[in-house]
Amino acid sequence: MPDLSDGQVLTRTLCFSVDPGTRSRLSSGASYAPPLKVGEPIDGFCIGQVVESLNPRFSEGDLVAMGGGWADHCIFSGRGYIQKIPHDRLPLSYWIGVLGVPGMTAWFGLHRVAGLKTGDRLLITSAAGPVGATAAQIARVKGAGLVVGLARGAEKALWLRSEARLDAVIDYALSPDLTADLKHAGPEGYDCLFDNVGPEMIDRVIPLMRPGGRIVISGQLADYNARPGEARGLMNSRYFISSRLRMEGLVVFDDLRGFPAAQSELSGMIEAGDVRVREIRYSGLEAAPGAFIDLFTGSDFGRRIIDIATPSV
Ligand SMILES: NC(=O)c1ccc[n+]([C@@H]2O[C@H](COP(=O)([O-])OP(=O)(O)OC[C@H]3O[C@@H](n4cnc5c(N)ncnc54)[C@H](OP(=O)(O)O)[C@@H]3O)[C@@H](O)[C@H]2O)c1
Repeated sequence: MPDLSDGQVLTRTLCFSVDPGTRSRLSSGASYAPPLKVGEPIDGFCIGQVVESLNPRFSEGDLVAMGGGWADHCIFSGRGYIQKIPHDRLPLSYWIGVLGVPGMTAWFGLHRVAGLKTGDRLLITSAAGPVGATAAQIARVKGAGLVVGLARGAEKALWLRSEARLDAVIDYALSPDLTADLKHAGPEGYDCLFDNVGPEMIDRVIPLMRPGGRIVISGQLADYNARPGEARGLMNSRYFISSRLRMEGLVVFDDLRGFPAAQSELSGMIEAGDVRVREIRYSGLEAAPGAFIDLFTGSDFGRRIIDIATPSV
């Protein structure tokens, strides 16, 4: 292990996540995070236990959630994302899932970007993923009038309807007429689109947005594998004028100061059974590449967590 400098913290990784945003860092295209260099560890969010600290905020034995990587140990450099886990009432892995970056993306996407209001009719793409499913359930608790999700496969639809209590789920891959299905599920149109997928789906939804509608750009899953110049743009932009629509993206770390309050409220929703969480657990570092590929191709769904160690007491 390298010697630490002032401000640094060495952690032993207990588990880490695989994240779709990592895909954009494996290409040299434009992203808010720089591309990874060959030889650098793949990034991911970790639950770690502090082994050594030269930072007054952390002590040996502390449990933290942090931006780290696919590695059995990580060094927090003194800058970047790290947070002491404030309570142990919920599984530790939730702090890199529903209470971590995916959950916070859902929270701030809905509250700050969409300005969610009681009665809003909401449509969510990739609704069974950690971001989408959390957004759907928060919206439900906060009084959305209608929550519709797009997801592939009967198993996802069943879980979203019965556990996450969405009003309707559309399998966009099987739908012979997606516009008709979207109209059927939301006959009065949609006030908010929470989009995780990209322009092709947004374009389908724009004509169905209600006046004053808001579109949250969370991610572009359908384009992460596209070559430069291959990703398509929006065609239906004229509706932004006639329907006074607004579209805004977010980088969740801009809301870091708000995490503790949001996590506290969201913990309460989980403990009350109002927000359900689905995880898929893998064992051992060597499982990470397969778990990452499963994100884009696998039929199973939920936050993918790689377990590699247990906390020491
Ligand atoms: N803005 C931010 O600060 C921020 C932070 C964290 C995450 N995000 C973004 O939030 C989005 C959701 O993240 P997540 O962790 O919850 O992942 P996720 O939704 O579980 O992502 C995997 C799912 O994407 C769906 N998908 C839709 N179109 C696809 C396509 N063309 N190819 C492959 N998969 C496709 C698949 O579900 P179906 O088969 O059901 O469609 C797949 O199971 C991602 O775009 C991520 O980058 C943004």
